[in-house]
Amino acid sequence: MEIWPSAAVEHRRGPERGELEEGIVLVDPVADVSGQRPRPPKRARRRNSITDLRGSGEEARASSCARDRSAVSVRSVQPQSLPLVCPADRAELALDAEAASYGCGTCGARYPLEAGVVRFLGGDDAFYEGRYLNTIRWLPRRDRGPWTWPLWLMMSGYVWAVHRHVPAGSTVLELGCGSGIRYLSHRYRALGLDLSAASLARVADIYAACLQVDLTRGIPLPDASIDAAIGSYVWEHIQPRDKPGVLAELCRVLRPGGKLVLLYDVDGDHPLYRRMRAADPALFQEILIDREGHSGWQDAAANRFAFEAAGLRPLSHRGKEKLLIGPAMYAKVQEWPGSFGRWARLGRRFEFGWRFQLYNAATRVLDESVGRFLPERWARVMVTVCERP
Ligand SMILES: C[S@@+](CC[C@H](N)C(=O)[O-])C[C@H]1O[C@@H](n2cnc3c(N)ncnc32)[C@H](O)[C@@H]1O
Ligand SMILES: [Zn+2]
Repeated sequence: MEIWPSAAVEHRRGPERGELEEGIVLVDPVADVSGQRPRPPKRARRRNSITDLRGSGEEARASSCARDRSAVSVRSVQPQSLPLVCPADRAELALDAEAASYGCGTCGARYPLEAGVVRFLGGDDAFYEGRYLNTIRWLPRRDRGPWTWPLWLMMSGYVWAVHRHVPAGSTVLELGCGSGIRYLSHRYRALGLDLSAASLARVADIYAACLQVDLTRGIPLPDASIDAAIGSYVWEHIQPRDKPGVLAELCRVLRPGGKLVLLYDVDGDHPLYRRMRAADPALFQEILIDREGHSGWQDAAANRFAFEAAGLRPLSHRGKEKLLIGPAMYAKVQEWPGSFGRWARLGRRFEFGWRFQLYNAATRVLDESVGRFLPERWARVMVTVCERP
């Protein structure tokens, strides 16, 4: 029995967003919302090169595309079979191609296969369904040497950490993948897991499998079946009381020596947070936590404790954005009354295009130089790499 949902059914494709200009993406935020993509300027179609290096999801709603994919020569992973197990009893599931569903011989449960997504949830999640529909489309021309260095700039160094710690060809489960990262599908056998069926459907044609699953209710994969579990901006959405269970489940599905690589927002004493909290704690809670669904927002130390308590071995636990904050933060803070809001609206100039690239590069350089000597509690986000013993 195999999961190859994308081969079995028709699926939708997401809109392409962003175009190339001199190796820099011109992002079209409108396309994210409407799904429409205005015709790109002529010079933007010149070649496939470094495009968008921005974060994704709430950190950056807009994305990029490498338009000419023929120029990309990163290794494609061959499809292989991968068993799925029933979340209720861990019995192996069997695919019923005619009924387009997976069935459990033990408890009789059926899990439909729709638009390339295996649906393990009874219904759609009211908060997350269709909320994050952004695919990061940037690809290096070759998956080695200087061609891969731009990965260092992406998402606070998270993609670089994945590239460093997880060898090509590995089976990688992307937790809370939203609409995914195209690079992962070229380097790895990428499995996407998310609450949202619409988000998953957008990567169903490039990921090896897409599973609509609530992470807090178990992962429908067999023991020791994956080489790595990774995730960007999902960990802060998992409530502290659920984290030990999720980590135990990850330890079960990871093979010994497998890696967990996470990028997530953290609570702390970032100067911006300190000032906002002092000025209006209720508004702070509303804008930065409640509205975003950050029910698992904890500081770096509490998260490290959770990883270690689960028996994982942290290889690196690094705070980022201690000085400059990611431009998407300005979008959140702009609602703040008075001078704070005005300053944030000014900061939104760095959200797109070449200004974003410059700002992002400056942030990364600061993170990896001065930032290393600043208190860990100033970090706005963390990149953590753990190993399963
Ligand atoms: C902020 S988005 C990040 C999406 C993507 N990783 C990115 O960086 O753009 C958080 C994602 O986590 C998913 N998510 C939140 N809680 C989840 C849970 N309990 N199980 C599975 N996915 C979850 C949401 O559906 C959403 O797509
Ligand atoms: Zn079952």
